[in-house]
Amino acid sequence: MFGKAASRYDRINRVTSLGRDRGWRLRSLQALHLKAGDVLLDLCCGTGDLALLAAEGGVISRGLDFAAPMLNEASKKSSMDRARVAWVCGDAGKIPFKDSCFSAAACAFGLRNTSEPREVLRECARVLKPGGRIAILEFFPIPGKIWGPLFRFYFHRILPKWAVLLGADPSAYRYLPESVDSFHSHAVVAGWMEESGFVGIKDKAFAGGVARVLSGSLREDS
Ligand SMILES: C[S@@+](CC[C@H](N)C(=O)[O-])C[C@H]1O[C@@H](n2cnc3c(N)ncnc32)[C@H](O)[C@@H]1O
Repeated sequence: MFGKAASRYDRINRVTSLGRDRGWRLRSLQALHLKAGDVLLDLCCGTGDLALLAAEGGVISRGLDFAAPMLNEASKKSSMDRARVAWVCGDAGKIPFKDSCFSAAACAFGLRNTSEPREVLRECARVLKPGGRIAILEFFPIPGKIWGPLFRFYFHRILPKWAVLLGADPSAYRYLPESVDSFHSHAVVAGWMEESGFVGIKDKAFAGGVARVLSGSLREDS
């Protein structure tokens, strides 16, 4: 599904999020407190926006995704050398890197799509150095009697039609709202992060909770 969407993915994201998605990725990077020379793993990197943003700020970025067409789009967007940013085809549930080699890990709109999100978080803990930072940017089900139903109306009724007009596969944009409705709450995911060894979990909501970033650090004694 993601492979088929790759060439139109960025344009559809920009339009259907009313241009907000870039700002949300930037805010999730800020939660990582990165400095030049840090090494970031961007999990489920898709077309690479987050890894590229970090690399432009002097960070060494590695983008991991299992959909090769998404990685092809990512590599078309970057003229930086492979030492600065590199794309790796692989499964976020079985990260093909050795233990304790990254300063930070980020996952934007990816965790919900993995079959074993808890395994992904455990794998993040394995590849991060003690004290390493994590940021999970995601759509979570929106509670509330007014904003929740309004947003679900947009997500289920308007967004899929709009995306199809922009050339999307209709099934992908039926999947998106369904996957959000059936995903776990941010409180549950924060609990999984703690179980995996992350501490100091912070939650930041955007656009009334449409998207949220959960961030924290790997325990120093891990
Ligand atoms: C909604 S896209 C998000 C892409 C990008 N992070 C962004 O911010 O736009 C989800 C991505 O997760 C990838 N993905 C889903 N499950 C994965 C897994 N188990 N391992 C690696 N990539 C995965 C898909 O191929 C897709 O590119």
